[in-house]
Amino acid sequence: MKIGIFDSGIGGLTVLKELINDYPHNEYIYFGDTLNLPYGTKNKDELEIRADLIIDFLKKQKVNMVVIACGTISSNIYSKIKDKYGLMLIDVLTPTIKYISDNKLTDIGVLGTPMTIQSGSFSEVAKSEVACPLLVPLIENGKKDTKECEDIVIDYLKHLHNPKNIILGCTHYPVLSEIIKKHSKAHLINMGKCVSQYLKLPNIGTAKVTLYFSKVDEILKDNVFNILKQNYEIQEKII
Ligand code: DGL
Repeated sequence: MKIGIFDSGIGGLTVLKELINDYPHNEYIYFGDTLNLPYGTKNKDELEIRADLIIDFLKKQKVNMVVIACGTISSNIYSKIKDKYGLMLIDVLTPTIKYISDNKLTDIGVLGTPMTIQSGSFSEVAKSEVACPLLVPLIENGKKDTKECEDIVIDYLKHLHNPKNIILGCTHYPVLSEIIKKHSKAHLINMGKCVSQYLKLPNIGTAKVTLYFSKVDEILKDNVFNILKQNYEIQEKII
């Protein structure tokens, strides 16, 4: 099966990683829109323009389905665009909410981008939600292991008021799991794991992974390796 996946940058790789782990034989085509990130502060019209262009590109690669590996697009425009392209489109919110209800989780806090928190998509399940505008730029700039980043994480966590569970409501945030665990005892909910578990995909194909990003530099290459732990070829593609 040929699967397209996209996000604003490296965040969606945390979803891709889970899919490769669970279904290694499929073929994956990833697009990270690094030239246009962050998505977390874009309005719905801007998000839809980017989604249209990227999904069109993935369709041309003859994918069988597309995973929107982005909490911001999933929470703001998924219901509007899901039947627009004549292609199976999966978001990251539906599987995450299902995971919460299947496991009867309560006492939940959410960390997300400003637009995800503003969408109210998690409001029914969450007791506290915090918009974290500073995290994606730090992660994309290769600063996830700095004191600056840790201090910011500590501050955001404070506003969650010690929940038992934390939804990492942006696909970038699993790269901060170790730092978050240093300062919180909560169970961390990784949306990529929820998606992979939810999809129950066939596992047949060429076992190939192709990575496209709209802007490529050395920091990006390091970031990709840090998440996927493997050296894949990275192609620059502006769309
Ligand atoms: N990783 C994406 C998300 O889950 C996009 C974050 C951003 O670019 O601000 O929301």
